[in-house]
Amino acid sequence: MLNSIEKVLLSENQIKERIKEMGASIAKDYEGKDLLLIGILRGVALFIGDISRAIPMPLEIDFMAISSYGASTRSSGVVRILKDLDSSITGRHVLIVEDIVDTGLTLSYLIRMLQDRRPASLEICALLDKPARRLVDVDVKHKGFTIPDHFVVGYGLDYGQKFRNLPFVGILKPEVYSK
Ligand code: IMP
Ligand code: MG
Repeated sequence: MLNSIEKVLLSENQIKERIKEMGASIAKDYEGKDLLLIGILRGVALFIGDISRAIPMPLEIDFMAISSYGASTRSSGVVRILKDLDSSITGRHVLIVEDIVDTGLTLSYLIRMLQDRRPASLEICALLDKPARRLVDVDVKHKGFTIPDHFVVGYGLDYGQKFRNLPFVGILKPEVYSK
């Protein structure tokens, strides 16, 4: 697994430290409010465990699954709901938690869809932001790291469903996906 990685972009420790800061700032934003985190599966699996534990206040967690890249490294722009929320979000303070914002297509679609359900507020928290490939403008309120235009894996992010379990975020060797 490690020999498919060109370079470690964000170490386990860098991620940990940044999440501490993000958690504190989220807690400040939502003080005294009923907060619902919505994790977007599957890439968020590792991040949401850590970020939720870094927010020292009562909150709820729900998940949505949407179709993404399949086994390729490009967004098709087609977003399909594979699993909807179990909770109602009407009148609630909702924070969408995502692994990475790339073209922005996924999140802009989700925002429109969830806005229709009339939450009290709707914001985005993303561990990574890759602005170089943005096609649609999305406002990410809580952002972990801005990264250059490389395909990255680890800490929840996959290539062909693999590499999610790497504890760091690394750049995949191009030969792995050009094969
Ligand atoms: P967007 O709709 O292009 O913003 O795509 C967002 C989704 O694409 C993310 O939630 C990831 O699942 C996936 N994605 C985008 N860039 C990467 C990457 O560098 N590595 C792994 N997955 C990525
Ligand atoms: Mg994702």
